[in-house]
Amino acid sequence: MKILAIESSCDETAAAVIQDGTKIITNVIASSTLMHEKYGGIVPEVAAREQLRYILPVITESLLPYGPDINDAIKNNIDAVAITVGPGLIGSLLIGVETAKTISFVSGVPIIPVNHVLAHMYANFLDSEPKSSSRVISRDNQIKFPAISLVVSGGHTELFLMESEKKLTWLGGTLDDAAGEAFDKTARLLGFGSRGGLAIQETAAKNKNKKSVTLPRPMIHDDSLNFSFSGLKTAIMREVNKLKANNQFERQTIAQLCHEVQEAITDVLVFKTLAAAHLYHAKSILLSGGVASNLKLREKMSESALKNKLKFFVPEVKFCTDNAAYIGAYAYFRGKQTSWEKINALPDLSVEDTAII
Ligand code: KG4
Ligand code: ZN
Repeated sequence: MKILAIESSCDETAAAVIQDGTKIITNVIASSTLMHEKYGGIVPEVAAREQLRYILPVITESLLPYGPDINDAIKNNIDAVAITVGPGLIGSLLIGVETAKTISFVSGVPIIPVNHVLAHMYANFLDSEPKSSSRVISRDNQIKFPAISLVVSGGHTELFLMESEKKLTWLGGTLDDAAGEAFDKTARLLGFGSRGGLAIQETAAKNKNKKSVTLPRPMIHDDSLNFSFSGLKTAIMREVNKLKANNQFERQTIAQLCHEVQEAITDVLVFKTLAAAHLYHAKSILLSGGVASNLKLREKMSESALKNKLKFFVPEVKFCTDNAAYIGAYAYFRGKQTSWEKINALPDLSVEDTAII
């Protein structure tokens, strides 16, 4: 089964053709991230306007193996169109949703609505490139169920129990900021603009000194499977102000702070995921979402899984941040085909009730 998948929930415009949920035939992404740099964050109207420009060229490129005519390519080769309907920015979602509906109407192929957050974890089902070192840490690459799946992105930090490829139960999530948000807000506080978690990771790697600052590990020892990262931002702000007041806000102290922020966030994420794995007698751990590209998180989660005799799966870095390949994977394994009249953009789509979409 070949699915044309479309993703436009934030500032990326992406399209991919995925065969049988695992094989990536094409994967095209256009991003307006750089355009938001001067504002220190995503400007929804700018993102949506750019997506309107990119959407058709991106879809056309994703279908190029089947010829330059979108309509012919779809009619002759594609079995369904998968589209992210939420959660996300309304203006951005609408661009993808209305395009997908039009494609479905004109070509007659069914449409599959996709929940962006749930879809992130299906990046673990995509075939990795033969030489890639990072997708599957244990080489026996069959996901064994039950699995615990942690999705960590810019807007979400969610834990799920996965009893099969289809059966998902939400276990807990953040009560305030997401882990990605904590990285992004710290990056802005430290003067890295909108470069977010990657800037923190790169600066943390330059830390040469011993630990000089200790940040809290919020909610690490409470009984729930929830998270809270907003207090971390306040603690970091306090440290930054202290350093500035003492004229010590310089390269090395910034690197120390980045190192400790990364340690604090990753400690909590790993601890809670392992707690969930014990509670539900999991056999595998799945990591996904933009923050899953963080090398320290990948390393710590992999080590903890190994120590606890759990299989560990994480997508290649390029499939952690937003793209349409995992939208196609989700649609194949868990999506429900419907007709275009039933599709709407759902910016507040729940991730807790996994039965909705
Ligand atoms: O999944 P994603 O691409 O978009 C959403 O659906 O939100 O995730 C974006 C998030 C941002 O918060 C970004 O700072 C974070 O992923 N991120 C990272 C790294 N690369 C991206 N966080 C930590 N370390 C990284 N290397
Ligand atoms: Zn995402």
